[in-house]
Amino acid sequence: MVDNKGPSKRKLMFAIILTPIFVLGLIFLILWLSLRPHNPKFHLQEFSIPGLGQTNGFQNSNVVFNVTAQNPNRQIWILYKALRGSVYYKDHRVVVEPVLHSHYYQKPKNTTVLEKVFSGTMTASTVDNQRWLEFKSDRVKGTVMFSLKFTSDVKYRKSAWDTIEHRMRVKCDVGLGPDGSMLHHFRGRRCHVHFN
Ligand SMILES: *[C@@H]1O[C@H](CO)[C@@H](O)[C@H](O)[C@H]1NC(C)=O
Ligand SMILES: *[C@@H]1O[C@H](CO)[C@@H](O)[C@H](O)[C@H]1NC(C)=O
Repeated sequence: MVDNKGPSKRKLMFAIILTPIFVLGLIFLILWLSLRPHNPKFHLQEFSIPGLGQTNGFQNSNVVFNVTAQNPNRQIWILYKALRGSVYYKDHRVVVEPVLHSHYYQKPKNTTVLEKVFSGTMTASTVDNQRWLEFKSDRVKGTVMFSLKFTSDVKYRKSAWDTIEHRMRVKCDVGLGPDGSMLHHFRGRRCHVHFN
């Protein structure tokens, strides 16, 4: 006679050992997914460079912007350590200034409006001749592309624990018309957020 009790016994043993491991794994996965911090979301609401239409360029022109920063987490605070804003034309930085000076704690589910005027900070000397020609040509074509960027060291914080510090980089691409106002389809656009 063939004894076929052996294999089924072994299967049962495996089931008894593996089931709790599997269930525990599932619990950990669910916990990890629900406690894992989510990156903040940035949306570009407004951006303009009123002096863009001047024939001598954006010399001493203001940069006006309104960006919303949303903390999507239900229980986690976000600490921004000195958020800086900068404006780029192509690879060329034309402005850099602090936006949030000191440590800023953002509550869970809070949306913070980052709005600021960088006044008279863009100078013609920051754009070299080659870039200046490209800029004038873009303006004649009707769209000048800029990027508004934010950088900050960031920590996630939840009552007893906080995570290690991350370097956050946010990039919002925006197209301006020849008069320096934002082209409509860029309004409300989501910015690219990168953590490392
Ligand atoms: C900035 O944008 C937000 C969201 O659209 C709006 O609620 C707020 O009034 C704006 N602030 C200014 C000064 O325009
Ligand atoms: C977000 O928090 C800031 C600072 O505490 C507060 O001024 C603002 O009203 C809050 N925004 C919302 C939408 O709750």
